[in-house]
Amino acid sequence: MVDVLVIGGGGAGLTAAIHAKKDGANVALVSKTYPTRSQTCMAQGGINAAIGADDSIQSHISDTLKSAQGLADEELVGILCEHGVDAIKWLDKIGVPFSRNKGIAQRKMGGASFVRACYAKDYTGLKILHTLYDQCNAYDINMLSERFLIDLAVIDGKVYGAYLLNIKTSTVELFHAKSVILATGGYAKVYGKHSTNHVGSTADGIAAALRAGAKISNMEFIQFHPTALKKSSILISESARGAGGYLVNSKAERFTDELASRDKVSLAITNEMQKGEEIYLDVRHLSAKFIDEHLPQEKKLADLYENIDLTKQLIPILPAAHYTMGGICVDKNCTTNIQGLYAVGECANHMVHGANRLGGNSLLEIVVFGKIAGEAACAYAKKEMPACKVDKHKDILSQINTNPTVDFYKRRAELAEIFYTHVGVKRNEQGLLEALEYIQALQNELKNMGVKNIKLAYNTELAEFLEFKNLVLTAKTVVLSALRRKESRGAHYREDMPNKDDNFSTDTICYQENDEIKFP
Ligand code: FUM
Repeated sequence: MVDVLVIGGGGAGLTAAIHAKKDGANVALVSKTYPTRSQTCMAQGGINAAIGADDSIQSHISDTLKSAQGLADEELVGILCEHGVDAIKWLDKIGVPFSRNKGIAQRKMGGASFVRACYAKDYTGLKILHTLYDQCNAYDINMLSERFLIDLAVIDGKVYGAYLLNIKTSTVELFHAKSVILATGGYAKVYGKHSTNHVGSTADGIAAALRAGAKISNMEFIQFHPTALKKSSILISESARGAGGYLVNSKAERFTDELASRDKVSLAITNEMQKGEEIYLDVRHLSAKFIDEHLPQEKKLADLYENIDLTKQLIPILPAAHYTMGGICVDKNCTTNIQGLYAVGECANHMVHGANRLGGNSLLEIVVFGKIAGEAACAYAKKEMPACKVDKHKDILSQINTNPTVDFYKRRAELAEIFYTHVGVKRNEQGLLEALEYIQALQNELKNMGVKNIKLAYNTELAEFLEFKNLVLTAKTVVLSALRRKESRGAHYREDMPNKDDNFSTDTICYQENDEIKFP
């Protein structure tokens, strides 16, 4: 039994673990991926904080609220932005190698009124993640990777730990804990190859929370990043546009404000593409010295994945699913509606991004709310001494079909195409209904899917099948939520209802009961 079990080894989980441990908790952190390879390492451009001489916390708050289009909570946005300065000081103190320009260097990101994103070249997420990982080691936090969350152990609305699949041995382990923090990331990988995300963004925590009775919200809001490489969907950071990069079509015409918020830029690109245009990012006018100094990763990625020398050639791009605003409902202490269960980072809806997240606010979110979650879970564990009510390992593996007649990998790729086509930058009722019908058919077919590989050692097919089931469940909540939101707002653009409607200035909340998704 530990005091605090953190599930997820990205920036949110590592930050939560550090602060829980600092406050005196006995902490274990489990993750399916090795922590230094988590999705956080793919965040490139920067982390927002109003540390600039001309900038102010109020301006950061107002940019965030404007981008959120009426769906963020002002108090929570205030907490996020007010803690920005301390978050940067802390990261600097623990050793994040921020780029310097007198003080910590900052750059412009889309939707920001000021130059506000602190950065470490264009490796900001990676540098933060690796520094947090070093801190966890310094605090002697017990970190166990290749542990896949099967289910939370919840009885009578209270969490007692979690069931985890040990991917190395295919055994199910029960971790008892007084409190559990989910930091398992988002669900953008439902778009498969049309996503900038790490393979692991498969909604494992959101799906487990749903099965355990947690409420989730705003699942229809999925951010498409305007500039992913055309062939691979690998991210080309917004910082390239922040530095002066242009977006042009096949006729070499600029067609949008490159530094508008991502929902607007992605929509403008999609409109051009629907007219048959190819879209390019043009950074050829930036000096080679500037690129080597500030955008070295972009140069490498364009070369590796598109065979492009971006100092001389246009970069072919398109929008790809990048960040999921929806997630587990939490309050300002990261508390869910399940006692002892906390959620933080992209798997949670902290009510700070609303209908469209500002670039640079996600890294800030994981540091600010990671601290809050770690401290809150530790405080809860100190006063809570739950009796160990769960003592049996769930017999998950015997329930898996080992003679599948339907290939789930094929279905996973189909689901991604359906999502990209019908639940993408633009949606409409008919397309959403087609997506729903496909998902319902998938749910009926799941009994015929399973794993062919029955070896116990490193059976990644088994973990991937469990991920796929999580994606199917989550996909359903996305489509049902998108169908209910009969308006366009932020990242949810309905071709058939292109205007914002004040009747929908509320969150789309849902939960699962008797295997059905319900909306209160
Ligand atoms: O474009 C980027 O560098 C992405 C940043 C973010 O998602 O915050």
